[in-house]
Amino acid sequence: MNDNPLREGIASDRIPDPCTVVIFGASGDLTKRKLMPALYNLAVSRLLPPGFSVLGVARRPKPDEVFRAEQHEGVSQFSRRKPVEEVLWNDFAQGVGYVQGSFDDAATYVSLRERLEHLDRTRNTRGNRVFYLSTPPAEFSGIVRGLAGAGLIADRKDTSRFSRVVLEKPFGVDLHSAEALDTDLHQVLSESQLYRIDHYLGKEAVQNMLAFRFGNAIFEPLWNRAHIDHVQITVAEDIGVEGRGKFYEKAGTLRDIVQNHLIQLLALAAMEAPVAFDANAVRDEKVKVLRALRPLSREDVYRYTVRGQYHPGGVSGKAVPGYREEPDVSPTSRTETFCAFKFYVDNWRWHGVPFYIRAGKRLARRITDVSVHFKAVPHRLFADSPAEDNVLALRIQPDEGITLRFASKVPGPRNLLRPVNMEFRYGAAFGGSGPEAYERLLLDVMLGEATLFTRSDEVRTSWEHFSPILDGWREGPEPEPYAAGTWGPASAEALLTRDGRRWRRL
Ligand code: BG6
Repeated sequence: MNDNPLREGIASDRIPDPCTVVIFGASGDLTKRKLMPALYNLAVSRLLPPGFSVLGVARRPKPDEVFRAEQHEGVSQFSRRKPVEEVLWNDFAQGVGYVQGSFDDAATYVSLRERLEHLDRTRNTRGNRVFYLSTPPAEFSGIVRGLAGAGLIADRKDTSRFSRVVLEKPFGVDLHSAEALDTDLHQVLSESQLYRIDHYLGKEAVQNMLAFRFGNAIFEPLWNRAHIDHVQITVAEDIGVEGRGKFYEKAGTLRDIVQNHLIQLLALAAMEAPVAFDANAVRDEKVKVLRALRPLSREDVYRYTVRGQYHPGGVSGKAVPGYREEPDVSPTSRTETFCAFKFYVDNWRWHGVPFYIRAGKRLARRITDVSVHFKAVPHRLFADSPAEDNVLALRIQPDEGITLRFASKVPGPRNLLRPVNMEFRYGAAFGGSGPEAYERLLLDVMLGEATLFTRSDEVRTSWEHFSPILDGWREGPEPEPYAAGTWGPASAEALLTRDGRRWRRL
C-alpha cells in the first residue's frame, strides 16, 4: 500500500509461493501480539501469496471460529495499522484454522497432516509449509521428530515443495544444551531448513546498520582502530519482567538479551564487508567477529563484567517493586536483571578498541543505541572548550535514526566550541519507521531468505563466550543492587571510568 509519497519506490514486490504457516503454541502471547498481527499486516501490504493459510496448534480444544475470533481480537489490539480492515480480515481469516493436540502425541501430527493436505487441495498451498515453533525450547526436538514421523518434512532436495522450521529463542541455555539441540534438529533437518529467529535482526534500524556501513563510502576509512576510541552498545528497557518471573529466573539478562540480540548488534558494528549481500556471505562475516572476541579468563569475568539486580525504585514517577518481589521470583534470587561487559575484538581492524555493552530491565528509559566514539583531536587549539568525543550514534529504537555529534563554534567573539548534532530520523525521511520486525522475518522465511536469521555456528560461537561467563558468575558474588529507574549498579559506571571514559548520556 503506497499511499505515502515519501515511501515511493519502497514497496517490495517479492511474493512467496503459496504456503501454510503452522504455529505451534498458538494460544501463547506471541501469536496474538506479534505473529498474527504481522501476518495480517503482510496481507494488508499485499505481500502474501494467493491461498495463504495459517494453522494454529495447541493443547486446548477449540473450534476454528473461536481461534479466529481470538486472533481478530489480538490483531485489533496489537496491529500497527488500526482499525482492522474487516473485508480484508474476513478474506484472510478464511485461511485460518486450528488443530488441537498435545505435542508429544503422534495423533496430533496425523490430524495436522490431514488438515495440511486438505489445504493443499482446497487452497492450493502445494505442500509448502513453514512450521513456527513458538513453544518453550524443551519442546523443539519432540515437535520436529513428530513432524518427521508424520512425513511432514520434505527433503530439502525436493524442489517442488518446501518445509522450513522457525525456532524462537532461546536456543539452548548454555553451550552444551545449544549443541545438543542442534545435533537433535540436524538429524531431521538440514541447516537450510532451520530459521533461528532473533527479532532484533528484523528491525529496520538494525538492517540499516549494514546499509549505512556498506552502502556508503564515507565512514568506512574511519571505521577502525586508527580513528575509533571505543564503541558502546546499550539495550535498555524501562519495563520489569512483566509477569515472566518464572522464565526470567532461569534466563536472566545475559541469556534473554545479550547472548543473542546484543551480540548481533556488536557483530554488525564490527564485521568486515561481506562479498555479497546473501545469507552465507553476511553470516560468515558475523561469525568471524564472534570468533575474534577475546575470551574472558575467570579473573577477567570479575574484572570486565558487571551484573546487577533491580531493587524497588521509581520509573516515570511511579513506585515499582524490586525484582525479588515480582511474582514467581525467589526472595533470594541471584538472577541478573542488568549486565555490562567490556569486550575486545582481536583482529587488525579493532585491535585495542574496547566494546562496552550493557543491557537491563527497569532502567531509566527504553532505548537501544549503538555509538561509535571517535578519537580526540591530536592537538587542542580551543583550550577553553570542553573536550568532547565525536560520536556517531545509531539509534535502533525508539525514534530510529542516526546522529553525528561534532564540535561547532558558538556564535560570538570568543573561540568557544560546543557539541552539536546532525540528525537523520526515519520519521522525517520516510514518513514512518516501516514494518515490524516479525513482518519482515515471516516474509523472509516464506521466501527462503535466511540472511536475517542466526546460523548454527553463530549461536555456538556466541555460547562459547558466554557459557564460561555464566560459570564464573555462578561462583561469584550475587548481583549488585540498583534502584529501579536508574542506569544500573555503580560498577557499571566504574567499568568505564576506570578507563577514563563514561557511558553516553541517553
Ligand atoms: C525479547 C526478550 O527477546 O526482547 C524480552 O525476551 C525483551 O525480555 C524483548 O523485553 C525486547 O524486545 P524489543 O523489541 O522490545 O526491544
